[in-house]
Amino acid sequence: MSNNDKKVILTGIRANNDLHIGNYFGALLPMVDMAKKHAGEYQINMFVPDLHSFTTPIDHRKLQEQIMRGLKIFVAAGLPLDDDNVHIYRQSYVPAHSELTIILNSFAGFGEMSRMTQFKDKSAKLGGERVSVGLFDYPVLMSADILLHGAEYIPVGDDQSQHLEFTRNIAERMNNKFGDIFVVPKTVKEQHALFNKDQGLRIKDLSDPTKKMSKSDDSGKGIIFMGDDPAAAAKKIMGATTDNEAAVQIDSVKQPGVTNLLQILSLLNKETLNETAARYKDATSYGELKKDVAGKVQEFLTNFQQKLATVDEANLIQKLESSEKLMNQTANQTLLKVQKAVGIR
Ligand code: ADP
Ligand code: TRP
Repeated sequence: MSNNDKKVILTGIRANNDLHIGNYFGALLPMVDMAKKHAGEYQINMFVPDLHSFTTPIDHRKLQEQIMRGLKIFVAAGLPLDDDNVHIYRQSYVPAHSELTIILNSFAGFGEMSRMTQFKDKSAKLGGERVSVGLFDYPVLMSADILLHGAEYIPVGDDQSQHLEFTRNIAERMNNKFGDIFVVPKTVKEQHALFNKDQGLRIKDLSDPTKKMSKSDDSGKGIIFMGDDPAAAAKKIMGATTDNEAAVQIDSVKQPGVTNLLQILSLLNKETLNETAARYKDATSYGELKKDVAGKVQEFLTNFQQKLATVDEANLIQKLESSEKLMNQTANQTLLKVQKAVGIR
């Protein structure tokens, strides 16, 4: 529960690289829509998990700039800063996140953490010595992010569902042992019902449409970043991998590339996938589809980047600082309850 008794909707988007259109349509826009629609009813917490940014190796010289850019992107996407129920903050500016993580570490099982799919996937990619304890501990920090603020609803993509389940488990475990100290987040199923969004939305990589577009990907060839030069982004679309079927159909198995292009176009046009596909039902080549998507992507990025350039930085920093002050108050209250429960206060 928030400081004014409103239920809390909370989410974080890491700033380990520039955001891409998958992050934008899959995570950011649904959250902004939610903030616009529900800010009266709920408290909306939108933060940058900066301590999560280097659980896998990054270029640290760029991090500070990326954090500020990530925050500006929230604003350019329409997050209403003038709403008192909307808060934006940086994780590391609320030290209770780190403190609670250290406490919760002693109640999280080594076995359950080793079974986390994201940890297994990311550590397989990194290999050996490059796998950090920070990566292993990622879900505990994430659960602290959620539990400190009593958040019940946490809009995230499917890849994060296991971490949400873990958060519910550790909250219940602590409550059983110490009495009611944490608000237990809703089940993933209940969350989907509230958000009523296409939780399955996965924009695919343009070069390899069998995998998702991901900012953790080094080459960047198949990714449309929000900061890409619009004309260069249009070229990436023109070069997207398709197939030899000679028909424009929604078929993510046989035609993953074409389906992905249709998906991107439908999001940009704010129409359903079927409506978009219907317009190409007589097409026997992909040139027209690609040209249309490329044009729309170019227009979208041009407009977005114009908006981004006009974000009032002084206003953003003022909002950040006032949110961070407030977030520290709530977080410290929860932390104190836990510190007392475990016996260090
Ligand atoms: P990435 O894999 O690009 O590093 P993150 O894991 O930081 O992305 O995810 C940030 C948010 O964006 C999550 O809620 C995630 O579900 C969403 N997201 C990431 N990639 C995509 C995608 N390709 N399509 C739709 N949503 C995505
Ligand atoms: N793990 C999330 C992701 O990679 C980011 C994140 C960190 C987060 N802490 C969170 C999301 C708390 C929601 C709530 O997308």
